[in-house]
Amino acid sequence: MKLSAAVLCALVAVQAAVLLATLPSAQAKELEVGYYSKKCKGVENVVKWHVVRALKANRRTGAALVRLLFHDCFVRGCDGSVLLDASSDNPHPEKEAPVNIGLAAFDLLEEIKAAVEKRCPGVVSCSDILIYAARDAASVLSNGHVHFAVPAGRLDGFVSKAEEAQAELPDSTHDVQQLIDNFAKKNFSVEELVILTGAHSIGQGHCSSFRGRLSEPSSQINPAYRDLLNYKCSQGSDPPVDNNVRDEDYGVVARFTPGFTSRVRKVPDFLDNSFYHNNLAKIVTFHSDWTLLTHKEAFGHVVEYRDNGTLWDEDFSDLLLKLSKLPMPAGSRGEIRKKCSVVNHRLY
Ligand code: HEM
Repeated sequence: MKLSAAVLCALVAVQAAVLLATLPSAQAKELEVGYYSKKCKGVENVVKWHVVRALKANRRTGAALVRLLFHDCFVRGCDGSVLLDASSDNPHPEKEAPVNIGLAAFDLLEEIKAAVEKRCPGVVSCSDILIYAARDAASVLSNGHVHFAVPAGRLDGFVSKAEEAQAELPDSTHDVQQLIDNFAKKNFSVEELVILTGAHSIGQGHCSSFRGRLSEPSSQINPAYRDLLNYKCSQGSDPPVDNNVRDEDYGVVARFTPGFTSRVRKVPDFLDNSFYHNNLAKIVTFHSDWTLLTHKEAFGHVVEYRDNGTLWDEDFSDLLLKLSKLPMPAGSRGEIRKKCSVVNHRLY
């Protein structure tokens, strides 16, 4: 028997509706610390083992994981939507948004997922794996000063749209009020914005992310540091540059900002409150970093966290935890993906 195209379409639509009804609602349950203790014993150790090994090989991967937590959770909640690849059904996922330039560590997460699937198939979501991995990376990069227990039980979402990521995430050209408004939409205060931005003590940014900064007046950027950035950016078409001057090559720092040579470290990417020291000295890369100094309350917190590194470690830990609890939009459905870069079920 031959089915007409219209009947076929109707059948597919019914199938999708039935499937949708059977998929778990992402809102159904509370997140729980130790959620997998019976369902997949030892999963947190598996994740940690892979993260520690990856960071030993390349410490830079740690910054990528911390940024992924932010970029996943700020868009549709923590649902692994940032991990999805383009497909014929969804040609422009979040990954493709310009604001997501430089995101990395996807291969590592896929490697961890494969190891976890081997141990307990179909049990642990990619969104939980991402949060565990980012938490472990933050802990390694801070020598254990940033730490928190991760409540789990998240589901992986089906929706991932570049235009949503572009609209929801803050941009490095934003002024302080735009940042405040952006964070307020997700229920984060001015102080919380300042604390979270301290993550820029680690990692790198592409020159295209701070091009405008290179022509800002010396009241906004230390001229010697600007020369250093100009030099680094002349070394390729859009090269990545360290967010923290102390992670730069000693020779480059000695040439452009000799006053900072004592800050240069052998081990890069140490997660601490140095962002606030750098910011007050006007040696930060992004306009969005510097603009925190232009708002009275935000400025006060920059000074507060410069002066109290221990407080920053604690408050930053609390805020990664708060970020990790951002929920999916009401009514969303979810699944446990088999692979982090593709959905198991197509819903559209
Ligand atoms: C306040 C608003 C923020 C803006 C405008 C912003 C913007 C950026 C930009 C433009 C980059 C460099 C991208 C590139 O060119 O490759 C970057 C890197 C980074 N950001 Fe942010 N960010 C913000 C907040 C945060 C928060 C809240 C976190 C984490 C809690 C974070 C963590 C990072 C990390 C770790 C990197 C380095 C990534 C790597 O080296 O792979 N950022 N950010």
